[in-house]
Amino acid sequence: MARKYLIETFGCQMNVHDSERMAGLLEQAGYEATGDAADADVVVINTCSVRERAEEKLYTRLGELRQLGLDLGHEPIVAVAGCVAQQEGEAIVRRSAGVADVVVGTQAIRRLPMLVDEVAHRPDRDRRGHRRPAVVDLGACDDVTWPLGITRRSDPVKAYVTIIEGCNEFCSFCVVPYTRGHERMRPRTDILAEVRDAVAGGRREVQLLGQIVNHYEAPDDPGCDFTGLLEAIHDVDGVERIRFASPHPRHFDDRFLEAMARLPKICRHLHLPVQSGSTRVLGAMRRRYTRDSYLALVDRIRALMPDVALSTDMIVGFPGETDADFDETLSLTAAVRFHSMFSFKYSERPNTLAEKRLPDDVPDEEKTRRIVALQRLQREIQSGLNARLIGGEVAVLVDAASRRRGTELSGRTSTNVVVNLPGPADWIGETMTVRVERAGAHSVWGRAVGIQDIPERLTPLTRLDIVGHR
Ligand code: SF4
Ligand code: F3S
Repeated sequence: MARKYLIETFGCQMNVHDSERMAGLLEQAGYEATGDAADADVVVINTCSVRERAEEKLYTRLGELRQLGLDLGHEPIVAVAGCVAQQEGEAIVRRSAGVADVVVGTQAIRRLPMLVDEVAHRPDRDRRGHRRPAVVDLGACDDVTWPLGITRRSDPVKAYVTIIEGCNEFCSFCVVPYTRGHERMRPRTDILAEVRDAVAGGRREVQLLGQIVNHYEAPDDPGCDFTGLLEAIHDVDGVERIRFASPHPRHFDDRFLEAMARLPKICRHLHLPVQSGSTRVLGAMRRRYTRDSYLALVDRIRALMPDVALSTDMIVGFPGETDADFDETLSLTAAVRFHSMFSFKYSERPNTLAEKRLPDDVPDEEKTRRIVALQRLQREIQSGLNARLIGGEVAVLVDAASRRRGTELSGRTSTNVVVNLPGPADWIGETMTVRVERAGAHSVWGRAVGIQDIPERLTPLTRLDIVGHR
């Protein structure tokens, strides 16, 4: 009987994609996927360390797996991957009382099957009852080129494609340069081959990943920057939509904005992390732009693409953030009217400049007060923007069936609004024209009135008539 694996993923799209890569590697080594830890011979926890709370989830989960092993009388091999693995290394083995058998760093995931294999050949316990010794691999290997055909994509419609690994920016709050390493560009030929492969496998949307995607420069094609890469991907037959995350506000140029405005497959959505509305705080964060230059960029973007939706990341309670600084965060939020926002209370991250030099001096109750106020404002803005869609028609790439309701599907507009609609599962992968009937803060609801996945196939809907009303 084939051995089974389970991967549990925390964190960002990079981690989701790394999990897809690790799944492919394990399957190549003969493992089969399972959804149940009790059934698994190998459990991989792919971790995130962007906030303290994200990191704590690892230790909670390791405790649960320890108990599960005791209950079952059989202890699965537990591998810890991702950003906490890279950051903590050997310490994870000690802190988890030996529950972690493998710790594999972010640049070493290609070696995961070998590491698991090494542990699998050891007995669960030695004669004295001690758990088998762990293996820790935090070394670097070539994670920028990635062979085709290994990744086991978890999404039938969208394909993640990495273009850059790591980051050299060293924003003072951010752990990523320490967990993901220095910036490494993936060859253009490799990226294009993966895009073609994803399309051949039925994916309609390509999501390009990198810490700062608009810093891209092709190592194998001097002169090809992010704009050149987007143009090349746009030319690939079968690609219907292109998204990317995240661009950095200080690396925009007019050529890129003009290309985005001109190329119809590029989604009308920009994730533009701002982090704070106060120039003083932005300086302490080492973001290297100001409130004014950020707002000027927003104006430039909207002058060229009035229909573009903007989203952002925001941190409240950064060291030294005063009430006046926070008011600037609120006023910037109100001025830009973001379509969505990821907002967080600041927490110290190991090794970062802020951890070393800036005391975490905003009390937690004050951070909570600020985040509640910010999220309330953002919810009002989102509700207002979504309500404007009611009565209109939007193009929705359907990408999932609702877990709760068998006849409900969901998808996204080009502007990244989540749209729920009734329909059969075979619409997944189709681009539907949807009339919006109702809106909330986080998504809208509507009814399909046509299929528009290929322009010449624009069809009035007849088969929709058989779909029951909710
Ligand atoms: Fe972190 Fe700054 Fe790099 Fe983004 S740009 S990954 S926030 S260091
Ligand atoms: Fe992503 Fe979390 Fe690492 S956000 S890059 S998994 S610290």
